[in-house]
Amino acid sequence: MKKIKVNLLENSYSIFIGRFLINELCNSLKRLKLGNLPVIITNPRINALIGSGLKGAILKSGFKNVKTCIIADSEKSKSLDTATSVIRFLVKSENFKNPFIIALGGGVVGDLAGFVASVYKRGLPYINIPTTLLSQVDSSIGGKVAIDLKEGKNLIGSFYQPKLVLLDLSFLKSLPTRHIRSGMGEVIKYGVICDRGLFEYLEKNSAGILKLNPEDIERIIYESVLIKSRIVEEDEKEKKGLRTILNFGHTIGHALEAATDYSGPYSHGEAISFGMVCAADISERLGFCSSELKVRLESLLSVFGLPTAIKKVNINKLIKSIILDKKFIHGKTRFVLPVKIGEVKVVEDVPLRMIEGVIKERRRL
Ligand SMILES: NC(=O)c1ccc[n+]([C@@H]2O[C@H](COP(=O)([O-])OP(=O)(O)OC[C@H]3O[C@@H](n4cnc5c(N)ncnc54)[C@H](O)[C@@H]3O)[C@@H](O)[C@H]2O)c1
Repeated sequence: MKKIKVNLLENSYSIFIGRFLINELCNSLKRLKLGNLPVIITNPRINALIGSGLKGAILKSGFKNVKTCIIADSEKSKSLDTATSVIRFLVKSENFKNPFIIALGGGVVGDLAGFVASVYKRGLPYINIPTTLLSQVDSSIGGKVAIDLKEGKNLIGSFYQPKLVLLDLSFLKSLPTRHIRSGMGEVIKYGVICDRGLFEYLEKNSAGILKLNPEDIERIIYESVLIKSRIVEEDEKEKKGLRTILNFGHTIGHALEAATDYSGPYSHGEAISFGMVCAADISERLGFCSSELKVRLESLLSVFGLPTAIKKVNINKLIKSIILDKKFIHGKTRFVLPVKIGEVKVVEDVPLRMIEGVIKERRRL
């Protein structure tokens, strides 16, 4: 097992990375003394795959009771209604005990459970056990917790760090291929923004990674987590501009998710993939990067089955989503643009006409 410490003064925590880590979790629960009632928040699918075994192991380790709160398997669970129902579940379960939360699932469960932990009685301790590649390399680290409103994604949220993150790579075995690909979008992002060596490793070892070869998977997850942790340590609350580089691909990516109503045609990682190639197009047009970079990025994304063009998307809706974004001011918006593999720059004044142009060039009928 490998361990990465995220150093955030009183909010510091450890990330464990390995396989079959449930015993490790039970030992940590005893050591951390977070409370006497663990409440697992998960969805029906993950509960069947992992939750029941986890509950049994925690009971065996000495806790008298473990509660499980099941939420629907959908982005729609990141809502005020679901948060309220989970809070009511906590109120009913508490009965003079000290609850703490275990988020068990992908980014949806983690964001919702972390949000509930941040607001229930002004803050409960929580542990994150991410079960998708995307949540292991990205959403479980950094303490961004949030729920959505119909007006937009992640509109209610805060920074609230977990007490422990446990990345059990054996959980990825049951993950559908599409979600492995989606997580790879974020891994590729890390390579482009600050780690040329990681990018080259992905280029050389795609076959092993797609087969979930344990050494390859462990290496890319470890390196991704290390990159994100170090950036979060420097700029926990996105105040210094450093955390901004993690948004590479996200300006157009988020707009694509919004324009397709978060309804499935593009997962988060797929939307970010499209956003990254568009950012490379813009960078090339502005003279910041070579066409060779763009070709390498495009071909790596394609090897992992990630989209570099879009179909059946209402372009007007997509442009409108970019304009509605909070980063869009006076006809111009902020982009993270690649300069070379392993280096990006933040550019504040990309004109809307250029953005529209690159998107239209990547539209297929
Ligand atoms: N907080 C952050 O910093 C941050 C960063 C990126 C994304 N996000 C959020 O993350 C969410 C997307 O997360 P996601 O991609 O993990 O999607 P998800 O949570 O919807 O999970 C994807 C699917 O995989 C299933 N699943 C999860 N683990 C499984 C396993 N081990 N085996 C089989 N099936 C499994 C889930 O039930 C679900 O159907 C979005 O809401 C996004 O906004 C948050």
